[in-house]
Amino acid sequence: MRFMIKDRLFTTLYVLAKLGACNRAVEISTVKLGKELGISQQSASRRLQELEKLGLIVREISRRGQLVRITERGLDMLRDFYYGLREILEGISPVIRIRGKLFTGLGEGRFYVSLEGYRRQFIEKLGFDPYPGTLNLKLVSKEDVDAYRSLLSSRNGIRIEGFSDEKRTYGDAICYPVLINGKIHGAIVKARRTHYGDDVVEVIAPVCLRDYLKLKDGDIIELIFERY
Ligand code: CDP
Repeated sequence: MRFMIKDRLFTTLYVLAKLGACNRAVEISTVKLGKELGISQQSASRRLQELEKLGLIVREISRRGQLVRITERGLDMLRDFYYGLREILEGISPVIRIRGKLFTGLGEGRFYVSLEGYRRQFIEKLGFDPYPGTLNLKLVSKEDVDAYRSLLSSRNGIRIEGFSDEKRTYGDAICYPVLINGKIHGAIVKARRTHYGDDVVEVIAPVCLRDYLKLKDGDIIELIFERY
């Protein structure tokens, strides 16, 4: 997400965050806020009104003053700024880019993705009903293997719980939402138990990717994961 906001409003949001308004409603007097920002009490009060109008904070009037809490949208804005700074100062990119070469596997993906115990969770947790199968990609270079490792070690994965039926048990998997070839959203699925090594990525999507993106074995596919 990219935000446009008047810079003075951003500073106000930042100060409110420093005063603890990220996770709860905190009592904030406009006198104190004005002092923190080096502006008058009236200006501080106007800024709160503007932030509220933009949906970046919510306010409640309490007996002693007002309670202010930063909304999810406000938090997104702070995060956006944080990731931008992190990229500038530490060289950590907010996106992970992984490229892999398409190959035909053993035909097991179709079976697993179609299992009701998994399918239900894909719909609920990823927000789409996957095409029955996984697109197998062999990572192209060392950078791709490193990028995939850094994805796996991040905390951004969505857990799909294992389950059992009368015959056997099926293990957990972790999913990472990705944009495929810049066109369609899907997810990398990393099964806890898999016969593939760390240089193979399996992708699910709401459509048949071979048809939708006109793919054939040997094509290079690009996956973009946004850290936030
Ligand atoms: O393991 P294998 O590549 O044989 O196939 P699969 O996981 O059973 O998936 C069936 C076919 O659908 C394969 O050709 C996959 O590459 C393809 N597929 C696709 O085009 N789009 C998806 N979203 C999932 C699988």
